[in-house]
Amino acid sequence: MKVLVTGGLGYIGSHTCIALHNAGITPVILDNLSNSSIHVLQQLHKICGQTFSFIEGDIRDQHQLEQIFKQQSFDAVFHFAALKAVGESCQQPRRYYENNVCGTVTLLDAMYNNDVTRIIFSSSATVYGEPQYLPIDEQHPISATNPYGWSKVMVEQILADNCQSDSQQLAISLRYFNPVGAHSSGLLGESPNGIPNNLMPYIAQTAVGKRAKVSVFGDDYDTNDGTGVRDYIHVMDLAEGHVAAFTNHQQDSGFLAYNLGTGQGYSVLEIIAAFSKASRQQIPFQMAPRRQGDIACNYADANLAKAKLGWQTKLTINDMTRDTWRWQQNYPQGL
Ligand SMILES: NC(=O)c1ccc[n+]([C@@H]2O[C@H](COP(=O)([O-])OP(=O)(O)OC[C@H]3O[C@@H](n4cnc5c(N)ncnc54)[C@H](O)[C@@H]3O)[C@@H](O)[C@H]2O)c1
Repeated sequence: MKVLVTGGLGYIGSHTCIALHNAGITPVILDNLSNSSIHVLQQLHKICGQTFSFIEGDIRDQHQLEQIFKQQSFDAVFHFAALKAVGESCQQPRRYYENNVCGTVTLLDAMYNNDVTRIIFSSSATVYGEPQYLPIDEQHPISATNPYGWSKVMVEQILADNCQSDSQQLAISLRYFNPVGAHSSGLLGESPNGIPNNLMPYIAQTAVGKRAKVSVFGDDYDTNDGTGVRDYIHVMDLAEGHVAAFTNHQQDSGFLAYNLGTGQGYSVLEIIAAFSKASRQQIPFQMAPRRQGDIACNYADANLAKAKLGWQTKLTINDMTRDTWRWQQNYPQGL
């Protein structure tokens, strides 16, 4: 089997290419390199012992997509390509909607014109907006608190409508909680541009001396130690979730959504402690005021994926911090 992986040189897409390869599925990568490095390809080669096909291109380029789908046949599209910085999306909403929403419509058009009927979509727990109850299951009401989140909500709606209009179509929306970690080889991981938006890369960069200290935003939440609690998932568990979703729904159609999380929350201070243990050093941190829009707690009910896909996470918080640290030490400047 062969699949097109949009955004396949990015953080989650590249790790999913490894999981696809391990499952005997051939990935063909399409990426415009707007937030990734071409050097990811050679790292994939080192890990998998094989060169993956790479097409430099854009999901908004209908002409190029038509050519790709006419030249090769694909069993599905794994659609990771998107812009993902929440703060930036508030400053540049049109750019986010154009890339994430219009880009997906262009991709769906090209797929439709060439009889590619299956798409696995990178969604996010952000589509649940502010949690109304915990743990969050797939029935939780959908909403968003910023343009990035709305772009995911809109794409999910478009995918659902597309499936409704054509009984051949399958769209699986995978709602990620907080992906962290790196491949255990230490050859591939996350290297955010500029100041990291997420906690784990920020801690890792502090541990390696690139940042002075970690700011912990809020220590008076209603949690065990007062700091925010999130559901962190190892990127390789997440990658395998994609393979499980694809392989378990070969014969199906319609719109399906699954949470991909561990079901367990860790506080900011617990993550800092786990990273201190992995890196064998104290991570400097300081308490700071709460950030607007942050919530106390967020974690998944991941039982649907377990029941329907036979998938559940295997890797622990110690694996997440160990693998992040190994990658960060090997490639402190990224690739
Ligand atoms: N990382 C997270 O915390 C997280 C959480 C939930 C959901 N997601 C979603 O998962 C997906 C992958 O995220 P990631 O963390 O790997 O991000 P990433 O930025 O590392 O990867 C995205 C890739 O898509 C490419 N890309 C962007 N726009 C493109 C376009 N128009 N055409 C072709 N390529 C394009 C980028 O160059 C990059 O390589 C995204 O859709 C993101 O919204 C990520």
